[in-house]
Amino acid sequence: MSDQRPILTTRQGHPVRDNQSLRTVGERGPATLENYQFIEKITHFDRERIPERVVHARGAGAHGYFEAYGKIGDEPASKYTRARVLTETGVKTPVFVRFSTVAGAKESPETERDPRGFAVKFKTVEGNWDLVGNNLKVFFIRDAVKFPDMIHAFKPDPVTNRQEAWRFFDFVAQHPESIHMVTWLKSPWGIPANYREMEGSGVNTYKLVNDQGEAVLCKFHWIPKQGVRNLTSQQASEIQAKDVGHATRDLYDNISKGNFPEWEFAVQIMPDGPNEHLSFDPLDDTKRWPEDQFPLLKCGRMVLDRVPDNFFAEVEQSAFGTGVLVDGIDFSDDKMLQGRTLSYSDTQRYRVGPNYLQLPINAPQPGVKVYSNQRDGQMTYAVDGTGPNKHINYEPSTLAEGLREADKPAREYHQPVQGNLGRYQTSRTEDDYTQAGARYRSFQDWEREDLIANLVADMKQCPEPIQLRMVWHFWHADEDYGRRVAEGAGIDLEKAKALPPLPGRAAPGKRLATETYTD
Ligand code: HEM
Repeated sequence: MSDQRPILTTRQGHPVRDNQSLRTVGERGPATLENYQFIEKITHFDRERIPERVVHARGAGAHGYFEAYGKIGDEPASKYTRARVLTETGVKTPVFVRFSTVAGAKESPETERDPRGFAVKFKTVEGNWDLVGNNLKVFFIRDAVKFPDMIHAFKPDPVTNRQEAWRFFDFVAQHPESIHMVTWLKSPWGIPANYREMEGSGVNTYKLVNDQGEAVLCKFHWIPKQGVRNLTSQQASEIQAKDVGHATRDLYDNISKGNFPEWEFAVQIMPDGPNEHLSFDPLDDTKRWPEDQFPLLKCGRMVLDRVPDNFFAEVEQSAFGTGVLVDGIDFSDDKMLQGRTLSYSDTQRYRVGPNYLQLPINAPQPGVKVYSNQRDGQMTYAVDGTGPNKHINYEPSTLAEGLREADKPAREYHQPVQGNLGRYQTSRTEDDYTQAGARYRSFQDWEREDLIANLVADMKQCPEPIQLRMVWHFWHADEDYGRRVAEGAGIDLEKAKALPPLPGRAAPGKRLATETYTD
């Protein structure tokens, strides 16, 4: 029987007749430089790796679809938004989701205590919408300018290349706003059992805008139909001893068996504006919007039903960003969201290349043809659609034969903005402890015990000034919380309690003058 398999070729399409031997002068002689087939093979290999993501380097992805209920809670979705991905029922919007850990390198263990990334690319009929979220609903900081310092502290030491507890807590100790997130992270919620059995959240505050041009503030959340399951440190180290990629395996195995994971999509909504009556700032991503006041309103569901054909092409080269919104979903003034929105596409133009949006994984769905006057750059794969006259790659043109602008929506949303330009260092309430303390008290006993044990183990690795300041924070969140960490780690509670407030920060529960800014 003749061999029907395709023939190996070079990238130039030439058949390869010998893939086992270099071309040499005689059996033992030197290799020749005109050996194109070898040069193509080896030099392409030399360039196989691209930079890993600067954060969230370890990840796994899956394809699926999103179906809107056409309602947000009991109301028609159109009351709040004109985004068709949320208003149109019966449409299956293709999605690609990438789950990840944050601080570890590309092949680091998936059992690490770390927030989990939950990034969703909706390929809607109106172009892409990326919701780049995490599993936990809050974050460590509320000002984007701090992000590089935070990540430096969480990543390995520049001298020893080791992640160190003291570096993490050295940063955290100066940031009371991170105590809420740390309370989640050091509890079992910091190690989700896998990617399927965890929640997701957009974390930052967005806006929904309707046809009348009216806006509301909102937060987005994913609720797993599989339920939520977390691991203690002990359970995680047992898994890690056998498998550093258990979460990817779990995702691929379940999808391949037809056990498709599913999440409900929900939004929390509040009126746009300063919402001065609240005890927290709705634009502060270190705070949750209490669910009894701002219920989770269900508006759709997402199913993941296909694993990628190729990890590099689809997962490694996928590029999500908070700037990728569709009409009807808008930015809020959340300072983290504003900073993130520059960072993602900037890093992707460097990490993947300036034409990263031409790659199939990142391009809009085939029904959405791209027409733009953006041209050229490294690795241009295709020329975007043009107007009837291909010479006119600019806009506007008197000849009216190039591309034209879209019609404006009947009612555009115009946000009023007023204020003094400056670098504001205060938060509205300076209350960074109430939600952290409430979280501590809301845990089940075994979760609280695991939290304390993890913090005690970490504190033992920190120098005394960091230990004292951390106990001071925990004690202000909840007296029992601070006392148990201090006792477990042998830290002098009275000495910790006697510390003054952090420089430049108000005493817990007090407020600095609100209009304080540095320039
Ligand atoms: C990935 C920046 C905060 C979730 C990334 C990447 C950068 C970045 C540069 C790598 C992107 C890539 O190479 O494709 C920032 C900055 C932040 C910030 C500057 C704060 C100012 C957050 C927050 C969340 C988050 C608050 C959670 C809501 C993610 C996720 C990924 C990611 C899920 C991985 C996306 C993927 O799977 O490709 N971030 N980030 N980040 N970030 Fe952030």
